[in-house]
Amino acid sequence: MNLVLIGFRGTGKTAVGREVAKALGFSFVDTDCLVAERAGRLIPEIFDKFGEPGFRELEAQAIASLAGADHSVIACGGGAVLNPANVAALKRNGLLVLLTADADEISHRIQGSQRPRLTSLDGLAEVKHLLRERAPQYQQAADHVLDTTRLSVPEAVQGVLALARAPNPGKSPSTVSVPVLVGTRDAHEIVIGNSALDRLSALISQAQPSAVAIVSGTGVPKAPVACVKKTLEAAGVRCVLASLDDREASKRLSTVEKISSTLLEQGLDRHSLLIGVGGGLTCDLAGFVAATFMRGIPHALIPTTLLAMVDAAIGGKTGVNLSQAKNAIGCFKQPLAVLIRPAFLDTLPPRELLNGFAEAVKHGVIADPELLAFMDRHAEKLLALDESLLAEFIARNARIKAGIVSLDPSEQGPRKALNFGHTLGHALEAEAGFKGLSHGEAVAIGMVFEARLSQRLGGLSAVEAASLEHLLEKLGLSTRLPALDSGKLLARMAFDKKNEAGTIRFALPQAIGRMMDPDGSYSVPVPVHVLRSLLEARP
Ligand SMILES: NC(=O)c1ccc[n+]([C@@H]2O[C@H](COP(=O)([O-])OP(=O)(O)OC[C@H]3O[C@@H](n4cnc5c(N)ncnc54)[C@H](O)[C@@H]3O)[C@@H](O)[C@H]2O)c1
Repeated sequence: MNLVLIGFRGTGKTAVGREVAKALGFSFVDTDCLVAERAGRLIPEIFDKFGEPGFRELEAQAIASLAGADHSVIACGGGAVLNPANVAALKRNGLLVLLTADADEISHRIQGSQRPRLTSLDGLAEVKHLLRERAPQYQQAADHVLDTTRLSVPEAVQGVLALARAPNPGKSPSTVSVPVLVGTRDAHEIVIGNSALDRLSALISQAQPSAVAIVSGTGVPKAPVACVKKTLEAAGVRCVLASLDDREASKRLSTVEKISSTLLEQGLDRHSLLIGVGGGLTCDLAGFVAATFMRGIPHALIPTTLLAMVDAAIGGKTGVNLSQAKNAIGCFKQPLAVLIRPAFLDTLPPRELLNGFAEAVKHGVIADPELLAFMDRHAEKLLALDESLLAEFIARNARIKAGIVSLDPSEQGPRKALNFGHTLGHALEAEAGFKGLSHGEAVAIGMVFEARLSQRLGGLSAVEAASLEHLLEKLGLSTRLPALDSGKLLARMAFDKKNEAGTIRFALPQAIGRMMDPDGSYSVPVPVHVLRSLLEARP
């Protein structure tokens, strides 16, 4: 087996790769050196003579020549994984570790390098442009990811060794790893599978925390917390348990204060690690505590509801409610890792499961028609939590959410697409007084309504809107708009965060798998009279 280091130039592939090879007793290959050696020319000369396409061709040949390599550490050129044939060749006998760093750090590290420019942009602007452009391919190719921004070479070497020694998610049929590239800084992994918690020991050796606080919800069954605690204690780290009331009414700043006081009293400091174990509410609160305790400590999340596994634990949104509005106080903070053990769902009540399925349908409408077809084909098995499908199903959702978050970590544009079904959904939940309608039920009704709205604006076809409704019903989600006052619903929607200049805006599909984006904001202004007539039609 080879260890392959991929990523942008300046992330440490060569310096770290050489040392990793020494530590493992492997040989070391740098694909750029191999290209130069095989061509008998320096890289800048190859670019001068053959241009970038010529270089990429030679690079592909060099990588293909490594087909028989074993026990090698291979450091790849920054653009190597842009060619899917290279990725396939490297993956055949290799574990791909993506090294990342933020643009400023990369720009600083590569100052004075002789590498040819790839765009007409200067220094930092070129780095930023290429990082953005390449993020999806890096994300797709990687089995693991390590952010080296703040690491010395020896620290990065230890990080890579820990990943190499960790149980190997990408290579085990029952475990999947999804990298989340948040502008390359704060890059991390979502590990999905019933042995995902094995990754905790690698996390501990990477983070070297003074102690770990396990923050869990009072409604979370004992088993997940016990399982996390046992694994951490086996890794030799001191654990402190802190539990929070995980009812929506307690998702308040006072709970953040309570948990923070417990952590302080238990001797946690700024070198400690926090691990949130629970549903979306616990993940949001635990993340917010981690963002603010001692001005921020690292954290990891172990979601235990389907909604948290496919949605809430991914993307770095943390927060608490105000009495006037949900999640009105919060910040973005990315975790070090999200570890998902689908077996934790065995105890989850069916109604809670439906909340997760509603968000999964939303992901399919936004970005992946095949996910909808998969859910339609396997609805019964998914509802029965069939083990053979669950990890793949969660991973598919995680890839969609991670992909959108990577493009737009702070919700300036594409991330707004995730609001599909939620503009009316939130209004329904609030108007029903957060009783009677669960979040998933409200979102399902919201999606059907917003699909009709899209249809009226020339987006979805009647067949697409009807098949969405059919799938939601097949999953057991009601799609009928309840008899609530349309004026009050409109007034609730007027408070939505997407609105601008007094106009209600919606995230609407243009077709299944593609969202409308009239002005770069991924939201569409809709006149009130159109909304009113559709609400009052109440089909
Ligand atoms: N940050 C985000 O991007 C994001 C996205 C969506 C939702 N959210 C937030 O997530 C919250 C909703 O999350 P949720 O639907 O996971 O609900 P939840 O966290 O309130 O959990 C629902 C209930 O299930 C219990 N529970 C958790 N795991 C269990 C298990 N394995 N077995 C049995 N019971 C279990 C919990 O104790 C709770 O009583 C909301 O506060 C919402 O604002 C955040």
